[in-house]
Amino acid sequence: MTEVIIVDDEQEAGELYATCVADLISRKPDAVLGLATGSSPLAAYRALAERVRADHIDVSGVRGYALDEYIGLPLDHPESYHSTIARTVTRPLGLNPAHVHVPGDVLDGAPLDDEQALREAGARYDRAIERAGGIDIQILGVGTDGHVGFNEPGSSLSSGTRIKTLAERTRKDNARFFGNDIDAVPTHCITQGIGTILKARHLILLAFGAAKAEAIEETVEGGISSFCPASALQLHPHATVIIDEAAASRL
Ligand code: GLP
Repeated sequence: MTEVIIVDDEQEAGELYATCVADLISRKPDAVLGLATGSSPLAAYRALAERVRADHIDVSGVRGYALDEYIGLPLDHPESYHSTIARTVTRPLGLNPAHVHVPGDVLDGAPLDDEQALREAGARYDRAIERAGGIDIQILGVGTDGHVGFNEPGSSLSSGTRIKTLAERTRKDNARFFGNDIDAVPTHCITQGIGTILKARHLILLAFGAAKAEAIEETVEGGISSFCPASALQLHPHATVIIDEAAASRL
């Protein structure tokens, strides 16, 4: 069952996330956090960083696995998810960088036409998550087309980590991070699959603003379908959707 919580704003949502994670770390100092990029989780990461500082939470054992990464950007490009996760999560929270993993790390520079290497890289990432004991809390955003991670509409709901082509709409949405130049947005990515994401023990999806209202309606009240990959949350025994009034306006 999907639990829906309507909040006033991103800060209130962030506090809820920070409370869940702080509580988890107090029970499990080597907790495994599933991390996402995009603007939706930013207030949550800020709230958690403040909580860590205020309550002197020891995060030295905490581990993190990001959802996805562009292919074709150097890891140190400011918009690579490797850089983004370091800037928004690893450094503000004071996590050990050696404990934080992004799917691009396993690609090891494999070229786009080396199908075998790319397939193996995805499977390697899933095995690493399993060896870590699985993800305890996975934070998620949602694309305006219902994508989670970079699982675009049409993605198999049982998929593992793999290479995908980005939808035109996603590249348009993300062009704002590339000087509004869609041609500068990579065409491919590596992303945890929906099957990978569903293995996390608790999913927390955040969405704010009217532009997400349709995707949220499909996610929470639509039929479960690969046309809205986020609707797979309905299959999860512990999924929490935290949204503002605008994102909830079609429910
Ligand atoms: C990107 C990411 C997703 C994210 C989505 C929404 O495409 N790969 O993980 O959920 O953007 O981004 P935002 O939160 O900025 O709307």
